[in-house]
Amino acid sequence: MAKLIITIDGPAGSGKSSTAKLLAAKINASFLDTGAMYRAVTLAAMQKGCDFNDVSQLEKIIDNTNFEFKIKDGVMVVKIAGEDVTEKIRDPQVTGNVRFVAAEGSLRARLVKLQREFAAGVEQIVTEGRDQGTVVFPDANLKIFLTADNTERAKRRAMELSQNGYKVDVTNLQKEIEIRDLQDTSRKVAPLTPAKDAVMIDTTNFTLEQVVEEILKLVKNSVG
Ligand code: DC
Repeated sequence: MAKLIITIDGPAGSGKSSTAKLLAAKINASFLDTGAMYRAVTLAAMQKGCDFNDVSQLEKIIDNTNFEFKIKDGVMVVKIAGEDVTEKIRDPQVTGNVRFVAAEGSLRARLVKLQREFAAGVEQIVTEGRDQGTVVFPDANLKIFLTADNTERAKRRAMELSQNGYKVDVTNLQKEIEIRDLQDTSRKVAPLTPAKDAVMIDTTNFTLEQVVEEILKLVKNSVG
């Protein structure tokens, strides 16, 4: 297992990915975007025309598909059977279906195993998601839980999507984010919740650099 594990959990649009990426670059650690794993399974299931209400079909997708998650130039590149789907997994249709994968214990268990294997292969890791501090790495050296108010989170997602060529309506995005928050926090398995020993950071009024600076101070305090 990696010698240094920093977990960053939080709801959609709280800044987890950008924060984890920049922090990882600053401390020369590897970076894992676990949401991308849930998205990749969802996309693979869509490509195969699976019934999202049939868990056994989704289990087969994870067991029989060749997924690749690799860091290249600071970005997590995702491949399904050799096809680069790094951008496709961000499609709003994938976002709409990901809850079926995220809600199932047997699917989560498979992804948790992959996440731990990923961490076992590197020296230092910054990993982000919903359950990294609570379930996947309960003994992490430092656990961060990011939040931000709903309007700000919707604005950030809108900017991200429009940069990738999607048409967006911020009001609708905010509603979607609120629905996803409810799904993430109310599911029975590994719901989104801060670990008891997590440090909470509200990023609403802070820049990415300020948030990363704050976490760097915590890293120094916690691991010397
Ligand atoms: O971070 P994201 O928006 O890319 O994540 C997509 C979805 O995947 C999110 O709505 C919930 C799910 N997810 C999860 O259940 N557990 C994780 N560790 C990461 C993501």
